[in-house]
Amino acid sequence: MSKVTVVGAGNVGATCANVLVTTQVADEVVLLDIKEGVSEGKAMDIMQTANILGLETRLCGVTNDYTKTEGSDVVVITSGIPRKPGMTREELIGVNAGIVKSVTENVLKHSPNAVIVCVSNPMDTMTYLIHKISGLPKNKIIGMGGALDSARFKYFLSHALGDVNAKEVEGIVIGGHGDTTMIPLTRFAAYRGIPASEFISAEKLAAVAADTMVGGATLTKLLGTSAWYAPGAATAQVVGAVLHNEKKLIPCSALLEGEYGESDLCIGVPCVLGKNGIEKIVEFKLNDEEKALFHKSAEAVHKTNAALASAL
Ligand code: LAC
Repeated sequence: MSKVTVVGAGNVGATCANVLVTTQVADEVVLLDIKEGVSEGKAMDIMQTANILGLETRLCGVTNDYTKTEGSDVVVITSGIPRKPGMTREELIGVNAGIVKSVTENVLKHSPNAVIVCVSNPMDTMTYLIHKISGLPKNKIIGMGGALDSARFKYFLSHALGDVNAKEVEGIVIGGHGDTTMIPLTRFAAYRGIPASEFISAEKLAAVAADTMVGGATLTKLLGTSAWYAPGAATAQVVGAVLHNEKKLIPCSALLEGEYGESDLCIGVPCVLGKNGIEKIVEFKLNDEEKALFHKSAEAVHKTNAALASAL
């Protein structure tokens, strides 16, 4: 029996729960929120699709009752406020740090062996916060940003390549999950293994990278709040890779201890995900420009992390 808890039944949490149920990734999913009735309502709505879609996964919604999350294999933390148009993810730290801290403590009381997937923003700093307060081994804490940013990169890339099948496009985003800190690695962008630069100009590839970096901000402007379909699905992808021991390479925010020349922060790097969470951080040679961008990104994440002390 596999069990997943999703904390936070807002747009991203509920979408993640919905994808977990519709793709039948887990046997049991618990959706928890502090707002009376919201999780119960969303779970009921989602479960009413089970007979239409022929689903076996069971989803249960609870209001702040952590006893129901007991024994979860994976816990997803989406709690906190989303950004409004014009806001950066970093501006959310003041409110979200306290929420993520108390959620983490509650979760661990009932699922001390769970792998934790952090979604709350600013995502790299919230992932780092969970490391600091949980005492969990570093492989058990995954920040999901790179999975989402890489999905957006592949989306923009598939369009630039002439609306090709997005599944046949390769793209990796490393660095922080921020409008100015993420690094779409255009050098490794590929269509069926053939470098994207064989098909599109350097200018077009740079535009794809730029669109990717502000991908979340573009949606926030259009929607009036931050996005949820791709964030929810990217999170479910990370959960699935852990639950099914997929050993998939997915860029995620991981605690670095010297990898890529950085340490004492969580930031996006290519990770192999399996039953133990982050089973390996894959290191490969960055060129000088990429190295400089990664270092600049790490500096920005360190700066946001430094604000944690006053936020808590
Ligand atoms: C985004 C939020 C979830 O990028 O960070 O849409």
